[in-house]
Amino acid sequence: MMNRPYYITTPIYYINDVPHIGHAYTTIAADIMARYKRICGYDVFFLTGTDEHGQKVEKAAELQGIHPQELADRMVNRFTDLWKALNITNNDHIRTTEERHKKVVRYMFEKAFEKGDIFLGEYEDWYCVPCETYVTELQLKDGKCPDCGRVPERLKEESYFFRLSNYTDRLLRLLETHKDFVLPEGRYNEVLSFIKGGLRDLSVSRTSFKWGIPVPMKAEHVIYVWFDALTNYISGIGFLDDPELFGKYWPCDAHLMGKDILRFHAVYWPSFLMSCGIEPPKKVVAHGWWTIEGQKMSKSLGNVIDPLDIIKEYGVDEFRFFLFREVPFGLDGDFSKSAVVHRINGDLANDFGNLASRTVTMIGKFLKGRIEAPEKKGAMDEFVEEQTQRLIGEYQAEMDLFAYHKALAAAFEIISILNKYIDTEAPWKLAKEGDVRIKTVLYNIWNSLRITAVMLYPFMPEKSNLIWKALGIGRRIENTFFDDEKAFYCPSDIAIIDKIAPIFPRIET
Ligand code: ME8
Ligand code: MG
Repeated sequence: MMNRPYYITTPIYYINDVPHIGHAYTTIAADIMARYKRICGYDVFFLTGTDEHGQKVEKAAELQGIHPQELADRMVNRFTDLWKALNITNNDHIRTTEERHKKVVRYMFEKAFEKGDIFLGEYEDWYCVPCETYVTELQLKDGKCPDCGRVPERLKEESYFFRLSNYTDRLLRLLETHKDFVLPEGRYNEVLSFIKGGLRDLSVSRTSFKWGIPVPMKAEHVIYVWFDALTNYISGIGFLDDPELFGKYWPCDAHLMGKDILRFHAVYWPSFLMSCGIEPPKKVVAHGWWTIEGQKMSKSLGNVIDPLDIIKEYGVDEFRFFLFREVPFGLDGDFSKSAVVHRINGDLANDFGNLASRTVTMIGKFLKGRIEAPEKKGAMDEFVEEQTQRLIGEYQAEMDLFAYHKALAAAFEIISILNKYIDTEAPWKLAKEGDVRIKTVLYNIWNSLRITAVMLYPFMPEKSNLIWKALGIGRRIENTFFDDEKAFYCPSDIAIIDKIAPIFPRIET
């Protein structure tokens, strides 16, 4: 398992928008898996990026009276700065305006054309500019885009088409043989019935605007922004330029995205790849949608939340934790400051932080800051160790399914068991009575807490490291392996300082 490659991606975000908590959410989700896989011994490549072509970007630039490239150059730092502030460990950030990307898109288009999967025709339909997608008469809802509710434009143009219908059988076979191709499970059937409902040939070029990659065989056309954007997943790992890198990481282990763009990733993207003789990805993972205080996030409502403000107010790890503890990954969620405060004060300050500081204080006071191997074990002590081992197993199984909320629940079950254990075993009494079992109890709590910090590390990298430090461990979690930390052990080289500042201060309301 050591050094096995693992490749994970986020969508590349439209550069005309300012990043909000929706973008932060997917990128943190990918970061959690990247960090987790690294401590499991994988050699991870984590790619994110920005989608810089298309009519939306062209229009936004026009409004500001600047060239679309200038708009992209001005906006891109908003994203990369946010990744830094969120402690994102991406290996690269791809921009679709980079040459390394554009040449791969041209290559893919030509390849599919030579294969006979792309042909020239004429297109007339409704087109939703904000969604960059065609909408058929049937799909319209009261004359509006079924996804965003805005009024689409009527578009008629000469266009290249991709014969998506050629891939119906291969897509069905892919889904049939890979039951876990789409996660969470519930989304699998959605994709299946979309394919079974009949695939229309897909328009893959535009003449109505200019900002895009010209079609190699007819420069008046630019390549459809989705054909362009999806290709980032291979251009970002050196397809054409670096066969070794590409060979190592492709096919991708997991494409992450919101449910809004699942169809593009689970249907169109594998078809484009198969047309060019490239293997489809192993998995696509679609999560749910965030609303703000019960409302859709939108510029016009003025309720778009800047993740930087939340980080400033509550802390980056608290924000990361909240997003994945609050809502099952895959379901929709509602963001409110009161919910954030509730999670911080409950799970983090009361349950976890308090436990850590009580433990550290007791080890300092009763054991002179040293963990000692148990001399005597009772049923309760064995129960704590067994439960910890069981919950580690559960955590790992859930992480592998992207069931982050269940993985977190397993970690917090350990915390709750430990809190009860302290209360019932009352180490201060054992100390008073001079009972050697105090060594066992504190040894157990120290070990379970150490492992819980490793489990929480992908979600809260800095706070988990602070817990380790408080527990007297001089290493950082990113430099260890999950498997090496799973078992209980008796450290020989630690000295616990008996007072620590609260790791999760309570928020007064
Ligand atoms: O669609 N809740 O870019 P985009 C949860 N460029 N996630 C959200 C969200 C919300 N309210 N709002 C946005 C595009 N997201 C294309 C992608 S990929 C080859 C091209 C997240 O800027 C979520 O991941 O509109 C969603 O799928 C993505 O941002 C859409 O970002
Ligand atoms: Mg969007």
